[in-house]
Amino acid sequence: MCGVVAIVGKEKASTLVIEGLKKLEYRGYDSAGIASLNNGLIQSIKLEGKLENLVNEFNLLTKEKVYNDTSIALGHTRWATHGNVNIKNAHPIISENKVAVVHNGIIENYLELKEKLLSEKFNFKSETDTEVIPNLFIKYIRDGNNFLESGRLVLKDIKGAFAFIAMCTDYPNQLFVSRNSSPLAIGLGENSNFVGSDAQSMNHLTDRIVYLEDGDHAILTLNKVKIYDKNFNLTNRKIINIKAEIGFITKGGYKHFMEKEIHEQPSVIPQTISSFAVGKKSLKIDVDKLGFTDKGSLLICAAGTSFYAAMVGKYWIEQIANIPVTVDLASEYRYRKPCIFGQKSILVISQSGESLDTLMALRYAKELGLRTSAVINVEGSTIDREVDYSLHTRVGPEIGVASTKSFTSQLVVLYLIAITLGKRFNDIKQDVIEKHLKFINMLPRAIAKMLELENKIISIAQIIKNSNSVIFLGRGFLYPLALEGALKLKELSYIHAEGFAAGEMKHGPIALIENDIPVVMFLVSDGYEDKAISNLQEAYSRGAKIILISDKECIKKSEFANLKILIPEFNNEFKSLLSPILMSIPAQLLAYHVAKERGTDVDQPRNLAKSVTVE
Ligand code: M6R
Repeated sequence: MCGVVAIVGKEKASTLVIEGLKKLEYRGYDSAGIASLNNGLIQSIKLEGKLENLVNEFNLLTKEKVYNDTSIALGHTRWATHGNVNIKNAHPIISENKVAVVHNGIIENYLELKEKLLSEKFNFKSETDTEVIPNLFIKYIRDGNNFLESGRLVLKDIKGAFAFIAMCTDYPNQLFVSRNSSPLAIGLGENSNFVGSDAQSMNHLTDRIVYLEDGDHAILTLNKVKIYDKNFNLTNRKIINIKAEIGFITKGGYKHFMEKEIHEQPSVIPQTISSFAVGKKSLKIDVDKLGFTDKGSLLICAAGTSFYAAMVGKYWIEQIANIPVTVDLASEYRYRKPCIFGQKSILVISQSGESLDTLMALRYAKELGLRTSAVINVEGSTIDREVDYSLHTRVGPEIGVASTKSFTSQLVVLYLIAITLGKRFNDIKQDVIEKHLKFINMLPRAIAKMLELENKIISIAQIIKNSNSVIFLGRGFLYPLALEGALKLKELSYIHAEGFAAGEMKHGPIALIENDIPVVMFLVSDGYEDKAISNLQEAYSRGAKIILISDKECIKKSEFANLKILIPEFNNEFKSLLSPILMSIPAQLLAYHVAKERGTDVDQPRNLAKSVTVE
């Protein structure tokens, strides 16, 4: 992952680079660093841990005039891939005090390159794959190439997914930048130019953005940006005007972004709904653009929480539209030689629109000739730009690493896709569509009611917080939610958690049941609830502590459960269909409160990043 940003031609470039890094911390927060050129020398500050450590040190060193804030600087916020989290491996990676590089991605052939460079007496001070880049620059500059030529020779050598920025003491007014699969955008200013991992990292500097395409490289000076394509031809890329800054993103009085994002669901989900539904009458999803012109099968690819949304989508689309759906983990799809028989289109789901696994799955599907569409929150992201048809969830920036409002909004879009396909291919009548839409429009209010369960969930969090392991169970539509509940709990609280289809317990996982292990089950009466209750009983008989989050009917049938949380009554025939959306709320609240109780870093859990741009 990692975030990179750089500036040429603006006074106090380092201060402004740090402002950019603040907006990129979602990409990684293991360590951070900056470098700038001062009187022909590279000066640099790198620190382990969150960006605020770098900010404090920078403020101190500039105040004491140990670090001079000049007009060319680059910065980095790291999510470690190669090499431990320490200052040595923090970027900028600087070779021979001559070339400084910040890099996002992985140089896959770095070992081979490193070996060669070592044999040529080049020095390596870090364990990173990145360090081959500045060393290669030095090698080619020494051979008599200028900065641009050297950068091109570096590009010929390195393989992998990357976005990097290089600065050199011999070329004090230039930045060399390049990207391949990892995102990189250039910002255009007045007598100054900028580059960053995303447009937001520069929105305090400019609203004119150029997205580099794969294989592009560029030289930035204060008054010129020259972009070259992968064949080294000078090229023009479209200038996009990004929206004016939406104001500083705040926690709005909440302790954490995640808490705020959970609580804003009733107010942002209407934005998702109104993007794809016209009141309670009709839908505005274009089936042709989805590439679904005749009834075949649909492929959905995604990662993490977005993958669990895809699983729910499969259940809905198959049930409502009677169309077979294959759901694939994006990280697996392109490596398993998939059979596309009967498939004409792929739908990918990604909050960030930047997950590299998902992007690669999308590109692979394109190569196979499939039409592409995506459910995306971040407009202008790489996937958004590459896909044939985007369906934007429009729930605003999600800052907490845990996916919350983006999950529920993805579900809403998938549900509306299911109805749209059902209308075209399964002869769903207008009155039924109107009923679906009526209940979809009631969702924000229903979510608000689910949020009223918070105090009860806090009491469950007290019980779970000291457990070593927690099991989540669900059946039918709520099976993917069991997986999601477990993912949410483990990523935030670091408690081992697993989700299972309740019926699968007896095929193995039941061996995990021991005295007092919490088993959380999400359940609504759907006509099959007795089966799920039997599965729960089997766990209870073996000593598990049963926590049942369910409706009146199921709770009545599960007297044995140790803790019962009664969900608000939703008296409608779509209760079971919509249960994955509603039950997401207690799942999110539970993970949040357990993490809070345990004092973990809720918004930036260890080892994670919001946008996962490595494979
Ligand atoms: O941005 P994406 O939806 O593509 O991200 C996919 C996953 O990385 C993401 O959902 C991840 O699993 C979250 N941390 C879950 O809360």
